[in-house]
Amino acid sequence: MGALTLSNVTKSFGKTDVIKGVSLEVSEGEFCVFVGPSGCGKSTLLRMIAGLEDVTSGDVILDGARINDLAPAKREIAMVFQTYALYPHLTVRDNMGLALKQAGVARAEIIAATDKAAAMLSLQPLMDRRPAELSGGQRQRVAIGRAIVRRPKLFLFDEPLSNLDAALRVATRIEIARLHRELNATTIYVTHDQVEAMTLADKIVVLRAGLVEQVGRPMDLYNDPDNTFVAGFIGSPQMNFLKSGLLGLSSETVGIRPEHLTLHPGGGQIRGRVNHVERLGGETLVYVTTVQHGMLTVRMFGEHNYDVDADIGVDFDAAHLFHFDAAGKRLR
Ligand SMILES: Nc1ncnc2c1ncn2[C@@H]1O[C@H](COP(=O)(O)OP(=O)(O)O)[C@@H](O)[C@H]1O
Ligand SMILES: [Mg+2]
Repeated sequence: MGALTLSNVTKSFGKTDVIKGVSLEVSEGEFCVFVGPSGCGKSTLLRMIAGLEDVTSGDVILDGARINDLAPAKREIAMVFQTYALYPHLTVRDNMGLALKQAGVARAEIIAATDKAAAMLSLQPLMDRRPAELSGGQRQRVAIGRAIVRRPKLFLFDEPLSNLDAALRVATRIEIARLHRELNATTIYVTHDQVEAMTLADKIVVLRAGLVEQVGRPMDLYNDPDNTFVAGFIGSPQMNFLKSGLLGLSSETVGIRPEHLTLHPGGGQIRGRVNHVERLGGETLVYVTTVQHGMLTVRMFGEHNYDVDADIGVDFDAAHLFHFDAAGKRLR
């Protein structure tokens, strides 16, 4: 249950084409993450799957049935929003059980279902509170609980952790990963957070301006990107791009990840100047300004110290270079 197919789906708002033809398979039980820059159409695509936006053309197919014209409530799809969207006048239990109540489920059954979800999310002590009496993290757990209680075929999450502080984001991310293992429900999760995408996804879909750039497992996108966009988007700090001609190479552009550059004070293949040093404890990032290639980021394990404005050399290992043509397409 919960296999989703998008077949050449498009969406236009008036004359503006926002989704320009997306085809995609999400298989049963899969955790699929949509990433892409702000405004590329992630939320619109998710809302079309949920039925909150009409599809302009193409097919949305859930478990073999075309659901384009099915009302949202009939789709067996639950969506969790960034802003939680809880009813302020209802208790946690009533928020979580509302969809079941509206579907005419008996009270005893609603209590059993909400208790079970509450146990999974450690919400038991909070069941009689109202949303105003909860922290942001607790509210988001209630919103997740409300989705679980419906036992949907498909879970949709739209940047659910964006409003949480860093520590809570990590804790809730781990909780979502655990819930997915327990429920094994098909999930589509929108985020602009690199770490969430890399750690949660079975499959990442990279979107750009209403089109799919590449689909793949996180490490495949990291190690084998199809183009400069995906290469630059996946990975933080982002890949360095160098001018091939200046290095005596035949491609247009080469990319190399910050962890594959090394610093060489007296020598190095590329000379530059230390612009800035970020010491993060476990790792050190050194930003080097070069005349030929602009700013390069060098990432090193552990603590290192370099003087700002010092002359420095940067070395790269050719085995780690990615080659691209003039249009940004990867040359393999
Ligand atoms: N109801 C709407 N009417 C007109 N344009 C819209 C509407 N909703 C979204 N858009 C536009 O569609 C594009 C994609 O938006 P959205 O799906 O929210 O992007 P994302 O979630 O990737 O940041 C944006 O340019 C946005 O302005
Ligand atoms: Mg969005």
